Amino acid sequence: MATHYLTDDRQAVGRRPCVLQSAVDVLAKTEADGLTAIPEELRTLGDLIRWGASRFNAAGLSFGHGTENAFDEARVLLCHALSLRFRFADDYLAARLTGDERAAVCALFEERIASRKPAAYLTHEAWFAGLPFYVDERVLVPRSPMAEWIERGFAPWLEAEEVDRVLDLCTGSGCIAIACAAHFDNAEVDATDISADALEVARQNVVRHDLQDWVHLFKSDLFDDLPVEQYQLIVSNPPYVSADEMQGLPDEYRHEPEIGLLADKQGLEVVVRILAQAGDYLTEDGILVMEVGNSEEMLVECFPEVPFTWLEFERGGQGVFLLEAAQVRECQSVFAAALGR
Ligand SMILES: C[S@@+](CC[C@H](N)C(=O)[O-])C[C@H]1O[C@@H](n2cnc3c(N)ncnc32)[C@H](O)[C@@H]1O
Repeated sequence: MATHYLTDDRQAVGRRPCVLQSAVDVLAKTEADGLTAIPEELRTLGDLIRWGASRFNAAGLSFGHGTENAFDEARVLLCHALSLRFRFADDYLAARLTGDERAAVCALFEERIASRKPAAYLTHEAWFAGLPFYVDERVLVPRSPMAEWIERGFAPWLEAEEVDRVLDLCTGSGCIAIACAAHFDNAEVDATDISADALEVARQNVVRHDLQDWVHLFKSDLFDDLPVEQYQLIVSNPPYVSADEMQGLPDEYRHEPEIGLLADKQGLEVVVRILAQAGDYLTEDGILVMEVGNSEEMLVECFPEVPFTWLEFERGGQGVFLLEAAQVRECQSVFAAALGR
């Protein structure tokens, strides 16, 4: 469920005006609220990132929604407040801030600590497969390790130029669908979600990337309201968190829509529903790729006869399987039986 993206520097950040209109007002509010002001002796970008990281660690924040550690989280927030790219040159770590800028950074750090919201919900931006996405609390913060395999075109199973139909089930922000449209040059992508709120965010991202002719959004409970088509690639990062695992998640996850995380008691209900139906929608040489995170163990235990290929990742992550169309079809009755069909 939690791997990483890091803000990419291939595209300029800073399209939106600074979130904090008047840093002087913010400073006054920070003091009035009794929040910690940045100590006078800390003056540079590097000082503030280090100070923020120390405060985040001391406050026991959890990471994994796009960054893996307190330093990167502090840097993301600082860059947002100052309209800088995440990967600014190290030389600038010694650059000083104005008083207003210090106040803006401080207020954002304080909000991160007080609210426990992942940084992406404060900046309204997350990066996935090298692309920026608008996000808010209607969608999960994009972080599937699948990004790495989308960038590689799922070779050797697929030949990227040959792929013309892709389906992304449970699209959320649209990150996987849009990344597929960006990396498979000839592919039209259908994407579904059961949440109208999530689809509104996905629509915003489709427009942002000018992919209206290539990515088609459907409100659908999995396959239910989809036209019957044959896809060479079906991808999904469905909800797969079990009830027990859900209870133990850090506060940061509670800002995400529960429908995006929680499946059923075991975490497998949506996963098995997809497995039971995907065979009808795959071309002969098609593949199904699905993230199941920590539910990998339970899935293998419940279906020992299924020849899942578990993908490996260079950038970290686990819990993503691949099945070829013939394998999905051979096992379809096993999955249907598990659903009591
Ligand atoms: C784990 S989030 C994944 C979002 C996005 N694909 C990503 O990787 O960031 C799961 C998404 O599945 C949607 N969802 C949950 N149950 C669904 C269902 N039965 N049919 C379609 N979408 C569903 C949720 O609304 C949520 O947006």
